[in-house]
Amino acid sequence: MKFTYKYIVLILVITIFSCKKDRVFTMEDIQLIPKPAELNLEKGSFEFDKNTKFVINNDEQIQASEILASKFKTVANWDLEAVKEAPSSNYIQFILNNNLEKEAYKLNVNNDVIKIEASNFSGFLYGVETIRQLLPAEIESDTTVDNITWEIPNITITDAPRFKWRGLMLDVSRHFFEKEYVLKTIDRLAYLKMNTLHLHLVDDQGWRIEIKKYPKLTEVGAWRVDQENKPWDGRYTPKLGEKATYGGFYTQEDIKEIVAYAKRRGINVVPEIEMPAHVTSAIAAYPEFSCLEKPVTVPSGGLWPITDIYCAGKDSTFEFLQDVLTEVMDLFPSKYIHVGGDEATKTNWKTCKDCQKRMKTEGLHDVEELQSYFIKRMERFISSKGRVLIGWDEILEGGLAPGATVMSWRGVKGGLEASEQGHDVVMSPGTHCYFDHYQGPMDTEPLAWGGFTPISKVYKFDPVVETMTEEQAKHVLGGQANVWAEHIPTTSQSEYMIFPRLTALSEVLWSPKKDRSWNEFTPRLKEMFKRYDFQGINYAKSAYTISTETQVNDTTNVISVSLKNEFSDSDIRYVLNNASLDNEAIPYKEPIELKETTTIKTSVFKDDKPIGRVFEKTFNYHKAVGKKVTYLSKYSNSYKGAGANNMTNIIRGSKNFHDGQWQAWIGNDMEVVIDLEIPTEISKVSVGSTDNQGPGIYYPTKVEVLLSNDGKNFKRAGVINRALKVNPNIELKDFIVNFKSQKATFVKVIAKSVKKTPNGGGAWLFVDEIVVE
Ligand code: ACM
Ligand code: ZN
Repeated sequence: MKFTYKYIVLILVITIFSCKKDRVFTMEDIQLIPKPAELNLEKGSFEFDKNTKFVINNDEQIQASEILASKFKTVANWDLEAVKEAPSSNYIQFILNNNLEKEAYKLNVNNDVIKIEASNFSGFLYGVETIRQLLPAEIESDTTVDNITWEIPNITITDAPRFKWRGLMLDVSRHFFEKEYVLKTIDRLAYLKMNTLHLHLVDDQGWRIEIKKYPKLTEVGAWRVDQENKPWDGRYTPKLGEKATYGGFYTQEDIKEIVAYAKRRGINVVPEIEMPAHVTSAIAAYPEFSCLEKPVTVPSGGLWPITDIYCAGKDSTFEFLQDVLTEVMDLFPSKYIHVGGDEATKTNWKTCKDCQKRMKTEGLHDVEELQSYFIKRMERFISSKGRVLIGWDEILEGGLAPGATVMSWRGVKGGLEASEQGHDVVMSPGTHCYFDHYQGPMDTEPLAWGGFTPISKVYKFDPVVETMTEEQAKHVLGGQANVWAEHIPTTSQSEYMIFPRLTALSEVLWSPKKDRSWNEFTPRLKEMFKRYDFQGINYAKSAYTISTETQVNDTTNVISVSLKNEFSDSDIRYVLNNASLDNEAIPYKEPIELKETTTIKTSVFKDDKPIGRVFEKTFNYHKAVGKKVTYLSKYSNSYKGAGANNMTNIIRGSKNFHDGQWQAWIGNDMEVVIDLEIPTEISKVSVGSTDNQGPGIYYPTKVEVLLSNDGKNFKRAGVINRALKVNPNIELKDFIVNFKSQKATFVKVIAKSVKKTPNGGGAWLFVDEIVVE
């Protein structure tokens, strides 16, 4: 045949019309989180259009289909119909398959039909959420999207969760978050196939749920004196009668709405009603349920230790709590009812006549057994209503209640112990699951509680501990992230702390452990960032932040600085001192060696341009770098910093005193001698310290420098004094002692501690570096 003009046009038209279906998908196009248990990619694809139908049999299936239908309504303005009879093609069929476990699903996509099989609502929902993640990221847009093909690859997925408790806890007490944010969070949990939202509704700083029988719980307990302009631990105790304007609570109608909304997203909402401690807000409303029965105010911020707790001696306390829990159980269908149980300081119980009487009549030997009595009594009540009590791992102390489930937070120890005793456990160890911890280098992040839990560490979490027996492992229901909100005043900051770390946790809790690989996960995470951008989530980009690791060579005193971020394939480039960070920057290959004060500027690059945050740090080289330090007064084992090298390793501490760069003394002065090895001309010594009076950390009141050439006879070179000042802020300062330039081989530095805090406790002195110039 001759190649006529008409024929060429025909070929072109055919090519154009068929090329949509000819798009070849590869494994790189499949970026699902959490990763499915089994997945097979096949040739071909299914394309959605305005005539695509959902073929359903019941309301639950319609509910699941609506998640996707509402997305298409937004991005394409299509009204995708749900029908009972299958058309000839172009439909998504929901098929009940009772052989599948709850929450499991099978997804089969071919050119004409998508089939989702499941045995319950959650399974259908997860099938739909998987389709949503297979679609282009633009499906998450909140406006119409043009010029796009809504196409997914032909694929077969057989999927089921590894754990049945896949949770997130929101602390809505320390800062109250409005209902709308809770609903949004529920959507985002379902998107990652998480199924539990734990609401921490009660704590010292606010009672957040309406209880009809005890209206003062919210009239009084939900409000505190507004001191949001001060750091959490620097807030004074409000006086009785002071106007309390900061707070909020959920009405019972709000709670019903939250619970119903969650149900439609496969999420169980677990209420937490703290007891016997973390309840100052309740005692402020009803002091009669405490031992002292004295009026107190709702604290505006940090409160430690927590001594105003419920009285375990008065029967009225238990009647009150049973009434509260009755209303709570009417609102929350959750099988599990959380009663807190953590961090009770039981000093009042030791002197309260009611508590003492209780101990006598019940034959209890100590206040730990009294707490155990308290929880056991509540457990009897909760189980009599057909529910299960869950509490923080302190409920193990003094003996665990028979039907209780334990949430292990002080590491995994509580989980090991409870599972050994045959109890179910949920693992949420602070080390991996506390999303109030920092997720990037502390000096580049917003203020957080402390700790360091980057997303790669969350990804390493495993709820089943290696030392567990098979029997113990069976008691592990799953895991949970906890977002304590002391330092999280806004929903935007809450999003920042949750995302993207929740993404990693969802894979830990859903996907088979054998498939876990950080380097395989990170491209999927980057794809998820695009989806979070469309969803308008203020997720942290800390994984791109460059951090440094510094080492001092003791012999040559050369400092080597390594640069890294969370992604092993990053193109990191840097420049030194005043050079500009542009396309001439040096690609980072090996540690940078420094022998003088140097500024390093660095960033991750993409297409020869810096992306994300630029990291800039000046390394102040000084005459004591790498030199030996002898401690005449020993630092505390709790804050060892970098050990013997801490004072001369040029690494400075941050405002987070837990960052591992601080050495600390409690109730004691710092006294050290630095050996400069040879007589060295010096005229200035500075001591780096921090003031953080909430947790009892105070600047030194005096810094004294003495010099010697033999290490035995020291002469004072200079001294500075500083009076103790009340300071509500967290600060860093160098205490500089200048003196006449002179030669010395040994430098003795004494920093005087205030030793005792104004209220009589031991005061800490923190030091990160001694700079000798
Ligand atoms: C807790 O973090 N106190 C459970
Ligand atoms: Zn008492």
